[in-house]
Amino acid sequence: MRVVAVKRYGDPEVLEAREMPDPQVNSGEVLIRVKAAGVNFADLMQRMGIYPGVPKPPFVPGFEVAGVVEKVGDGGKSGDGDTFRPGDAVCAITQYNAYAQWVAVPARQVYRLPAGMPFEDGAALPVNYLTAYHAMFAMGNLQSGDRILIHGAAGGVGTAAVQLARAKGLEIYGTAGPAKQEYLRKIGVDHAIDYEKSDFVEVLRKFSPDGIEMVMDAIGGKSFANSYKCLGPTGRLVVYGLSAAAGPDGKKSAARGLSAILQTPRFNPLRLMADNITVIGVSLGKMLSKAGLMRREMEEVFKLYETGKIKPVIGKSFPLADAVSAHKYIHARKNIGKVILNVK
Ligand SMILES: NC(=O)c1ccc[n+]([C@@H]2O[C@H](COP(=O)([O-])OP(=O)(O)OC[C@H]3O[C@@H](n4cnc5c(N)ncnc54)[C@H](OP(=O)(O)O)[C@@H]3O)[C@@H](O)[C@H]2O)c1
Repeated sequence: MRVVAVKRYGDPEVLEAREMPDPQVNSGEVLIRVKAAGVNFADLMQRMGIYPGVPKPPFVPGFEVAGVVEKVGDGGKSGDGDTFRPGDAVCAITQYNAYAQWVAVPARQVYRLPAGMPFEDGAALPVNYLTAYHAMFAMGNLQSGDRILIHGAAGGVGTAAVQLARAKGLEIYGTAGPAKQEYLRKIGVDHAIDYEKSDFVEVLRKFSPDGIEMVMDAIGGKSFANSYKCLGPTGRLVVYGLSAAAGPDGKKSAARGLSAILQTPRFNPLRLMADNITVIGVSLGKMLSKAGLMRREMEEVFKLYETGKIKPVIGKSFPLADAVSAHKYIHARKNIGKVILNVK
C-alpha cells in the first residue's frame, strides 16, 4: 500500500511517499480502507521529534481516519455490543499509521459514522471534537450562560470548541491572528480578540471583571499563566497543548522548546484551593484506555452533528501524496478549521 512516512525528524520535507506491506488484521482489530485522514498539530510535532513518546523514524504519522471497513479480526466487536462488518462506514482514532491507504485499528477505537456523513467530516471529528467535548463537558461541566475563552479559536480544536460552546449557550471569547478576526465573528464568537493588537487578559477583565469559568489553552508557555488570570472562582484552566514549542518553518528549535517549558507556570495546590480554581489536563492519547467513556462522548458528538448543531469546518484538503504542503500550510497558520488528506 501507499503511505506517507516521516523518514527522519525534521521540517515538512521529511515526509515521504513510499510503498509498505499492507497491514494484517489481528484479533479484535478492524481493517479500514482509508478515504480521508485528519491532519493534527500533534502530527507536526511528531514529525519534528518534539512530541512525547513519538516513535523513531521511519514511522507513519496520523491519529485519525474515516473510511470503509474491509475486514474484521475475531468478530470486530466495538466493546458495546456493536459489531463491525465489511462495508461499514467508520471513523477511528488510530494513534499513528493514518497517512496510508489501509490501517488496522483496535475495534474499541472505531466508531460507526452517522448515515450520510461525508468521509472528510468523519476524519475531522474524532480528535478535535472529543478533545473539546471531553474538556468542556465531561471534565469542565460547563453550563448554559458560562463564559469560555478559546485560544486558537479559528483552528481545528478551536472551531470545534466554538461550535460546542454555541450549542450549549455559552458566552464565547476567542483569540486568533489578525487575518481570522472576521471569521471568528462570523462563527459566533462574542468577543473576538486579535492577540497581535490586544492583551487578552485586559479584554477579558474589561468585559468580565469577576473572571470567567473556563479557558481552553493549547498555546502554552506564558499563555498558561495569563489564561489563569482570566478565571474567577470556579474557573477551569484546560491545559491541552504546547503550540508555542513549534515554529512557522517547522524546524525543531531547542531554544523555542526550552523557553515554552521554562515559561510554564508551576501550579501550587494551596493557591488553587485559595482561588477555587481547577487545572484540567487533557491528553486524548491517554484517553484511549477509557474506551467506553470515549464511545459515549463520541455518541454525544454524533448526536450534535445529526441535529445540525455542529459541522466540522474543513479548511483545506490535500491529496495524501501532498502531505508536505498540508504540514507547511498549518505551520504557516493559514488553516481555518481542519486540514484533511484525501486518500485514493
Ligand atoms: N491534548 C490533546 O489531546 C490534544 C488534542 C488535539 C489537539 N491538541 C493541541 O491543540 C492545539 C491545536 O491543535 P489543532 O490540531 O486544532 O491545530 P490548529 O489550531 O488547527 O492549528 C494551529 C493554530 O494555532 C494557532 N496558534 C497560536 N499560537 C501558535 C503558535 N505559537 N504556534 C503555532 N500555532 C499557533 C494558529 O492560529 P492563529 O493564526 O489564530 O494564531 C494556528 O493556525 C495544538 O497545540 C495541539 O497539539 C491537543
